[in-house]
Amino acid sequence: MTSHPLIVDAVRSPIGKRGGTLSSVRADELAAQVLDGLVSRQGLDPGAVQDVQMGCVTQIGEQALNVGRMAVLIAGWPETVCAATIDRQCGSSMQACLNAASAIQAGHLELVVAAGVESMSRVPMGSNLGSEGFAGFSSRLLDAWEIVPQGISAEVIAEEWDLSREQLDAYSLESHRRALDAIAAGRFEEEIVPIDVGDGPGVAALGREAAGGPVGGATAVEPRGTLFAVDETPRADTSAEKLAALPPAFKPDGRITAGSSSQIVDGAAAVLIASEQRATELGLEPRGRFASFGLAGVDPYRMLHGNPQACERALARAGLRWDDMSVIEVNEAFASVVLQFARDAGLEERMGDVNPNGGGISLGHPLGATGARITATLLNELERRAARYGIASMCIGQGQAIAAVIERF
Ligand SMILES: CC(C)(COP(=O)(O)OP(=O)(O)OC[C@H]1O[C@@H](n2cnc3c(N)ncnc32)[C@H](O)[C@@H]1OP(=O)(O)O)[C@@H](O)C(=O)NCCC(=O)NCCS
Repeated sequence: MTSHPLIVDAVRSPIGKRGGTLSSVRADELAAQVLDGLVSRQGLDPGAVQDVQMGCVTQIGEQALNVGRMAVLIAGWPETVCAATIDRQCGSSMQACLNAASAIQAGHLELVVAAGVESMSRVPMGSNLGSEGFAGFSSRLLDAWEIVPQGISAEVIAEEWDLSREQLDAYSLESHRRALDAIAAGRFEEEIVPIDVGDGPGVAALGREAAGGPVGGATAVEPRGTLFAVDETPRADTSAEKLAALPPAFKPDGRITAGSSSQIVDGAAAVLIASEQRATELGLEPRGRFASFGLAGVDPYRMLHGNPQACERALARAGLRWDDMSVIEVNEAFASVVLQFARDAGLEERMGDVNPNGGGISLGHPLGATGARITATLLNELERRAARYGIASMCIGQGQAIAAVIERF
C-alpha cells in the first residue's frame, strides 16, 4: 500500500569541534546513541524499526563495514533491524531520507530510520582515498574533468558569481550570530539528544552541561560519563575584523578562509519515518512529511552550485513555489555556495528565512550527518513559526545537489 512518508521525529547530537568534546566517542557509538535517543523519546520498541539508512562519507576504520549496521548492533537493538550505509557525499543522510521515504511511499517498508554520522576528528575527511589521493582516480575521469577539492570550487564560485571577500565574511559573521542566538534562546534543545562522552576531553570547559540521567528510556544504556548537550562550534569571539584578518584557506589570492568555510566537526542525526498505517498502529504522532525530493547533477569542477536546480525540481514535484517555503535551509558548505544559491534562486531579499539558526559555517558540517541534521533543524523552525512548508538543500562533492520539501503538520 502506498503512503505519504511521515516524519515522526528528528533528532541530532550536539556538534563537536574537531578534536573537541565528541572526539572521545567512536563514530559508530555516536551514531548508536543518536539512534537510541530517537526511539527512546518516542517510547518506541526499536524492534519495530525495519531498516536504518545511515549516511556516512568516510567509510573507513570505525566508519567502515556498514557503520549503519554496526550502530544498530551497538545500540543493542534486535538483530532483526536491518541497516545500510549510504554515500552521496555531503548529501548522504538526505539521500538516506530519500531512500527511507521512497521505500515507505512504494509500500516496501513501513518504519525506517534515516540517519547520518561523521566523526571528522576520528576518521579524517579523505582518509579513505588511498595513498595516491586524487591521482588514484581513473585516467578517463581525469582526462574528462578537472577534479579539485571543494574549497577550490568554492573559490571558483566566488569568482564567477562575483562575490567579494566582504560579502562572504559578512555572511559568515551573521551565521555565527544566528547560531549563538539560537543556542542562547534554547532553540536547538528540542532536536538535540545529549551524548554520553565518558570522561572525554574538554567537557569541563563547556558553558552548559546537561543534567545527569539516562540518554533515553527503556532501551538506552545508562550513561557512564558526562552528557554533552550544546553545540560547541559557534564562535562568540568572532568579529568582522577577525574574519577580515584570516588568510585565504585554499589559494594564495583567494577569498575563502577558515571563517567562510564549513567547520570540520563531529556529529550524528536521525529521522524516524513511518507509513500512515504504521504510525496509527503504533500510536505515533507525526510532526510532518516529506512532500518531495529533487536531485541535480552539475559540472564536477564548479561542483557546488546545484542547489537552485535541486530545489526547483523538488518544488515542481510538490506543486509548490518559493513563496510557499517559509524556511529555507541550504547547507553552508562555504559562504559562496549560499550566496550563489540565494542569487540564482531569487532569494536575496529573503535572507532572514535562509538558515535562520546558522549552518555549517557556525555549527559545522559533519559530512554524512548534515542532511538529517538540517531536516531536524528545519522541522523545529517550521514548528516555531507555525509554518507549513520548508525546503532543505545541500550541494554535493563531484557536482550534485539534493533537496527535500517538508510539510509540517
Ligand atoms: C577551511 C579549512 C581548511 C580550515 O581548516 P583549519 O585551518 O583547521 O580551520 P580552523 O577552524 O581550525 O580555523 C583556523 C583558525 O582560523 C581562525 N578562525 C576560524 N574561523 C574563525 C572565525 N569565524 N572568526 C575568527 N577566527 C576564526 C581561528 O584562529 C582558528 O584557529 P583556532 O581554532 O585555534 O581559534 C577547513 O575548515 C575546511 O577544509 N573546511 C571545509 C571542509 C569541507 O570541504 N567540507 C565539505 C564541504 S562541501
